[in-house]
Formats: sequence, C-alpha cells, structure tokens
Amino acid sequence: MDFKTLIAPKDGLCTVAADALLLVIAGKVLPDGLDAPLAQALKAAVDAGDLSLKAGQALYLHHVAGVKAARVAVAVAADGQATAWRKALAAGLGLLKGGGAQHVAVAASGLGTLGDAHAEALASVADAQTYVYRHTKPSAPPASKLARFSLVCDKADAALLESGFKRGRAIAAGVALARENANRPGNHCTPSHLASEAKALAKSHGLKVQVLDRKDVEKLGMGAFLAVAQASKQPLKFIVLRWNGAAKTAAPVVLVGKGITFDTGGISLKPAPEMDEMKFDMGGAASVLGTLRAVAELKLKLNVVGLIPACENMPGGAAVKPGDVVTSLSGQTIEILNTDAEGRLVLCDALTYAERFKPAAVIDIATLTGACVIALGHHRSGLFSSSDALAAELLAAGERGADLAWRMPLDEAYDEALKSNFADMGNVGGRAGGSITAAKFLQRYTAKFDWAHLDIAGTAWTSGQAKGGTGRPVPLLTHFLLARAG
Ligand code: BES
Ligand code: MN
Ligand code: ZN
Repeated sequence: MDFKTLIAPKDGLCTVAADALLLVIAGKVLPDGLDAPLAQALKAAVDAGDLSLKAGQALYLHHVAGVKAARVAVAVAADGQATAWRKALAAGLGLLKGGGAQHVAVAASGLGTLGDAHAEALASVADAQTYVYRHTKPSAPPASKLARFSLVCDKADAALLESGFKRGRAIAAGVALARENANRPGNHCTPSHLASEAKALAKSHGLKVQVLDRKDVEKLGMGAFLAVAQASKQPLKFIVLRWNGAAKTAAPVVLVGKGITFDTGGISLKPAPEMDEMKFDMGGAASVLGTLRAVAELKLKLNVVGLIPACENMPGGAAVKPGDVVTSLSGQTIEILNTDAEGRLVLCDALTYAERFKPAAVIDIATLTGACVIALGHHRSGLFSSSDALAAELLAAGERGADLAWRMPLDEAYDEALKSNFADMGNVGGRAGGSITAAKFLQRYTAKFDWAHLDIAGTAWTSGQAKGGTGRPVPLLTHFLLARAG
C-alpha cells in the first residue's frame, strides 16, 4: 500500500487525477471554498435528503459532472480531531473499498489544517480495512482493489504529513503481523511457529533473537511456565528478541507477551462454546512481535527487549492438577488451584527473567482474564501499574494511537484473595475483581522494576461475524516507545 501527499492544484479538487476522491467534511454545515462542481453536488445531495450532515454519515456519488475523479465519496466528521477523522475515513473508505478504484485522493474541507496524526490515521485505517487472512484460506477474495492513497494538502504541510505516513506505515505493518499470527489456528500457530516468526523478524529487521527450549527453561528453574506446558505435545519456547537502537548502557524497555497458542483450560477444562477463540490467547505475544517490527522499521533510538513465553495449555495424563504446588523462577511457590489461570503462570517466570536486563520499565501484555472483558468490554484494554508516571505515559500513548486503555486499581486489599495454606500464593482469587487479582498476582514478581500490565482479553480480537485479531495494542505500545525514544 502506497501513501503520498499531493499538493492541491490551484483550480482545486475537481482536477485531481485519481480513481476516486474521498472528501472529508466537518459536520452541520457544508464547507465554504469547495470548487463549484463539488459544492453543487453536495448541496443537491443534502437538499434531496441523501446526505445528512451528521458525524459518521457518508455518501457515494458516481461521475459527478465537472469532477475528474470518476468516483466521489463524501464523509462527515464531527470535528477536525484525529479521532473524528478516523471514523469519517472508515465510513468513506467503506463505500469505496468494494469498488473499482485503486487510487484514492483524500481531501479535507472545513476541518482546519491536517497534521501528522491525520496522515498516520489514514495509513492505519486503509491498511486495516484492506487486510485479508488467507494462510489457511487461500481462496479468500481480495478485500479491495485500493492500493494507493494521496492526501491532498498545502505545500507547507507536506513534510509533516509525510512523517505521519512513515509512522502510520510502520504501525500498520506491526498491526498486520500481530493480526496475521493471532488469526492462524492453533495447529499452525504453535510455540515453534512463534519462534520461527521471531527469527524471521530478527533476520529481516536487524534484531537479535534467542530461543530457549525446555531444557534451558528447566535449568533456569521456570517451574510455573513448565507446569503449564507439561501436558502438551508441542514443545514450549521461550523467545528473547532484542532491538538495540541506543547505547549498550541504556536501560531497555522490556515487553512481555503471553504466548499461549491454545488455551483449553487444562484439567480445569473450558466449556465447548467459543473455545476456538482460545487460539487468540497468544495475542500478547503477537503484539510484542508487531511492536518490535514497528520499532525496527522506525529505527527507534531505544533499546527494547521482547520476551515471549510460548506453550499450549492442555489437559492429559501428564497435566498439572488443581492443588499442585510449583516453584517459580523467583523462588516463590504457587498452589495451582485452577489450571485455566495459566497466563499468570507463564508470565510470572518471564517477569522474573526480565530482571536480568535491569530494565527502565517492564510492560506485560496478555489476554489474561474474562473478568476484564466484563469490566471494560471491547473498547479499552485494562491497564494496571504500580507507577503513576508509567500509567500516564501509557494512557496518553493509547490516545495518540487511537488504541485506548483504562487504568484499573491495584490496592493492597485485593492481594488477600491470593492467600494459600499450602504455598506462598494461590493462582486464583475468586470471581470478584478477577482481572485485579490476576494483576495482583503478577505484581508479586515485579518488585525490582517499574511495571505495567495490559489485559487485552477484550481488545485483541473481535468475536462473531467479523471474527479475527485486531492487532491491538501495537499502536499504543509503539506510541509509548516513540515517546520514550524522544
Ligand atoms: N485466556 C483466558 C482469558 C480469556 C477468557 C480471554 C475469555 C478472553 C476471553 C485465561 O487464561 C483464563 O482462562 N482466565 C480465567 C481465569 C480464572 C480461572 C481465574 C478466566 O478469565 O476465566
Ligand atoms: Mn486460561
Ligand atoms: Zn489463557
């Protein structure tokens, strides 16, 4: 997909040579200053009741007299903010993507000056709308012919918009990598597959990679991770990826992604309905791969480490049983009361492993709890952090990337639920506040660094008709790292 700026010709949008013109206007009243053929067509559409000037509305017009582009789509934005712009683009491209246009010129009227955030949004909206999963469905038709986008602007703004495109392309590439891996079924996207994806990424993008196997993990003493993996025929992998964009001495940001390539629940078996969706339980891992791709494409001047504990959670004769006690890498013992609370078990050992990097911050990303979906639904990821400053950085990054999170509490009082008579802690704390007690469990492994946890159970994929990975929270994480890189 190709994104460029286009300096508008003097005589206006009517003469722009493209297959389609997508005009985004601000709501309520028709903007002044449009060239006559467009102004007339829009007025006629409004008068006829075909276009209402309300945010989110869009209309397709074919062969408007006096307009060179054969197709015109008009989309109404609430205001000139990037969020409204994104919604309008999605509505407008929705009208064009099933048609014959390849090259779309995108223009704004009445929205004020476009900035880098607008260009970034165009790249990510266009890429998201045209992605098609085909790995196990090669017959899938292309989503769209759309391939080229030109953003109409003044000469003075072109450089800024180009910088936005650069960011947007990198984030879109990261989102696509995350989606693609999340969408692959559990028999394709195995721990070994994630390891080979990490190796391929390292090779193509200049990262360092190391993959630890069962023996290495045993030697280290990751008893919690091993317990989750022990009934699976798929060998576990512990993936370490490194982007060295800054001086060796600069403390890295460590991203830890839950990489459960299929979560049956184990002996605490999940019910059958929708169990297929547990192939997405490696969404955290996928977002780490995607974010590192974006970071490498942007050549960020920052050190970033990605850690992915990857395995399946299976029942079977060799499976860990409710009541079993294991010793984590940290030395703390855990009574596994529910084998379906496996994410925290693989993450706690990865968090302890993160200590060796003397990190500037550690962020884990996990499809951790159904309770988080109940709390926040599918719009915002749950954010938990022991640091107010880190939480604020991540929330702001989510706003910039249109990939929102919401801060959740970590009060000491929630920790009591994890008490066990037979180990240092149990791995579950009951139904009440389930996403919080899960975070409190993780927090017990984070005393040595600044830490945040993103519960993406509600945001990493979409259920129902449009079932599929979303690539979240790659935009949030990339914006966070962009800001850290300065
Ligand atoms: N992978 C699931 C969390 C999940 C559930 C994500 C539904 C998306 C949708 C996780 O491993 C899990 O099973 N969590 C349990 C924890 C419980 C046993 C304390 C849950 O949420 O039910
Ligand atoms: Mn589970
Ligand atoms: Zn899980």
